[in-house]
Amino acid sequence: MSQAAIAMVHPGFDVFAIRREFPILAESVRGKPLIYLDSAASAQKPRAVIEAMVQAMEHQYANVHRGLHWMSERTTEAFETARDAVARFLNAPSREEIVFTKNATEAINLVAHAYGRGVMDPAKAVLISAMEHHANIIPWQMLRDERGIELRVCPITAEGELDWAGFERLLADGRVGLVAITHMSNVLGTVTPAERIARAAHDAGALVLFDGSQAAVHRRVDVQAIGADFYVFTGHKLYGPTGIGVLWARAELLERMPPFLGGGDMISSVSFEKAEWARIPHKFEAGTPPILEGIGLAAAIAWVERVGLEAIEEHERALTDFALARLSAIEGVRIFGRAQDRGGVVTFALDRAHAHDVATLLDRQGIAVRAGHHCAEPLMRVLGVDSTARASFAAYTTRAEIDALAEALERVRRFFA
Ligand code: ALA
Repeated sequence: MSQAAIAMVHPGFDVFAIRREFPILAESVRGKPLIYLDSAASAQKPRAVIEAMVQAMEHQYANVHRGLHWMSERTTEAFETARDAVARFLNAPSREEIVFTKNATEAINLVAHAYGRGVMDPAKAVLISAMEHHANIIPWQMLRDERGIELRVCPITAEGELDWAGFERLLADGRVGLVAITHMSNVLGTVTPAERIARAAHDAGALVLFDGSQAAVHRRVDVQAIGADFYVFTGHKLYGPTGIGVLWARAELLERMPPFLGGGDMISSVSFEKAEWARIPHKFEAGTPPILEGIGLAAAIAWVERVGLEAIEEHERALTDFALARLSAIEGVRIFGRAQDRGGVVTFALDRAHAHDVATLLDRQGIAVRAGHHCAEPLMRVLGVDSTARASFAAYTTRAEIDALAEALERVRRFFA
């Protein structure tokens, strides 16, 4: 589809106008315009996010929840407004269900500690999939090694989709306590059928956690429509700052879970003998929270909502289809992941070339892609490789950049041939 045709589908969506909102995209690398195809690792930031954080630092900054002074009250209000923004973004029933963490990894660790160790029956198993990021593997392995719980892994199909028969088989004995699964694979691009997963998990007596680090960036998430119990995502992939992630969990679960970290702000009273916990979500937010990052995240959400998640999704779908067609046509290129429902990441390998060499040679031509195991080493083994290259797209990616990638890859291929 041409850029003009994309603009016709969503008349307000103009990728070139969007690009002008990202100061970094005007930069050049070694004399060439920056072609940034690594947004799945971390997205670039629009001026609205940068300015919201600078504005707070220049005009309205103090610690939150503590001071009685004007500046602290104003900053507390701005930070707590970010919680409202996240609750609306996820369609969470209540702002009290939004816990701010450092990133999605910390959010999953929080669940593994507070729910896994504090609430879940140790006789129950945790079920993950073969396409998980390390962030959704290691916390469960640690729980397994400490508490002796069983860790089950659902296989994937050759297309890179969840093996549904395998998934049902692993749930069948009713011994799974928690299904923890990606909502969109950072390697294969596969979007998992979240509602179906949640229904099947609940029918088998399990709760369900979705790692939405990639999905929340590319499509609208409604935790109530999905029927999720836990949902996590991170700010920096959503055009927001690093240092802030989100755990959404049903209030009833947060109430039952013990705190994860102890310290200031998470208590209602403390003596040397004992402490009482603060109300949710503060019970899970020990210490000074990511104040500026919360303000930046709220600005990022407002930005994404202004552009429109549906428009972004459609733009990225067209780019992904184009990239798949363009890269598949190059001799010796192998694409990983052919799921029906997928988001804007394309992972590939080139015959006779190591992914690191491919990425280095692309970098010399001004194109940034990620290479390696993408924090999904077990998945690499399933795919039979030790590393791959990955191009990932965002609202500001253009077809011309994908053309440039294909042309550069063709040169890399000739170099190795
Ligand atoms: N998890 C990030 C990625 O997939 C860093 O690249």
